[in-house]
Amino acid sequence: MILVTGGTGLVGSYLLYELARKGQKVRALLRPGKKPYEPGKIFNCLPAGKEQYIDQIEWVEGDILDPFSLQQAMQGVDYVYHCAALVSFNPRDLKKMLDVNIIGTANIVNACLENGIKKLCHVSSIASLGLVEKGEMIDENAKWKTSRTNSGYAISKYGGEREVWRGIEEGLNAVIVNPSVIIGAGCHPKATNSLFRNIKYFLPFYFTGVNGYVDVRDVVKAMILLTESQTSGERFVLNSENLSIKEFFSKAADIVGRPHPIIAMNATLLLAIALFFELSGLVTGAKPLLTRENVRAALSKSFYSSEKFRTTFHFSFIPVGDSLREAFRIIGSMKK
Ligand SMILES: NC(=O)c1ccc[n+]([C@@H]2O[C@H](COP(=O)([O-])OP(=O)(O)OC[C@H]3O[C@@H](n4cnc5c(N)ncnc54)[C@H](OP(=O)(O)O)[C@@H]3O)[C@@H](O)[C@H]2O)c1
Repeated sequence: MILVTGGTGLVGSYLLYELARKGQKVRALLRPGKKPYEPGKIFNCLPAGKEQYIDQIEWVEGDILDPFSLQQAMQGVDYVYHCAALVSFNPRDLKKMLDVNIIGTANIVNACLENGIKKLCHVSSIASLGLVEKGEMIDENAKWKTSRTNSGYAISKYGGEREVWRGIEEGLNAVIVNPSVIIGAGCHPKATNSLFRNIKYFLPFYFTGVNGYVDVRDVVKAMILLTESQTSGERFVLNSENLSIKEFFSKAADIVGRPHPIIAMNATLLLAIALFFELSGLVTGAKPLLTRENVRAALSKSFYSSEKFRTTFHFSFIPVGDSLREAFRIIGSMKK
């Protein structure tokens, strides 16, 4: 039996689909009172022919912040895929995010150790690799550096990953993946696919940063490959291509038939706008449309290497253009 956390999210839903397609017995954690993400609707955004797989998934109520629910969810489980996390660049979510991503992961690690789980696959992030010198290629050997410019999300993912390394020291058989920005169309309303829904509003503009991108289908394939392999106690960067944000948005523009972005956003102006949104959010209680952490992330120039995973598993990543086409195709079909 396999347990998946975060099964209602982008990565988790694709993972559940892939595991069920392989005929595996799968259990998925569902947070109490999460009615909008009814299990029956979880595969709505996935390719046709998914209905037969829905019944293969056993949903159990639980929360990674509730260790008792994890004890119950892990009964009879051999393998755990930990995809649950809080992904946010809103400073107001910091406390909750540190709890979910660090304490929640510590709870998963402890429950895996206590229940003799055969292997844990933990979804970390490139964010937990830390900051590097300008233009330097970032890989699995990157060392975390404490800095005031680290985002709350990065700190939380680094802290969560450290819990997994602690578990490995205590004898846990575990692998870690560090995906770059994941491209995919998920069912979860908060999922990163909101980028694709809103892309039409951003198209004339671009940020000057560079980032890495990877297809959700490759992330899931890599997680299964690693979990089924003998590999243990290692982490792997998962990244298809490094693209400037202008290149990324131009590829997206070609697919949706819009002009390429031509106006570079001014950093000082953007930070000022973000600060305005954050402050007005404090007064009105509304979620800020843009935060200074969003802006810093979009302006940073980061290059990632997934050479280790490519060579170890002779793996070819889906090109970013193809990932974008698939994400827009799914979103288009969901609107109908
Ligand atoms: N998306 C990216 O670009 C990206 C890039 C690199 C790494 N990652 C990492 O990949 C993983 C999956 O990300 P994603 O994009 O799939 O995120 P997502 O779509 O936002 O999904 C997050 C999942 O975590 C669950 N969750 C949140 N708090 C929980 C809690 N306390 N207990 C149990 N479940 C909880 C959510 O459940 P509800 O439905 O109940 O809210 C949801 O299923 C995360 O670890 C993320 O840090 C993501």
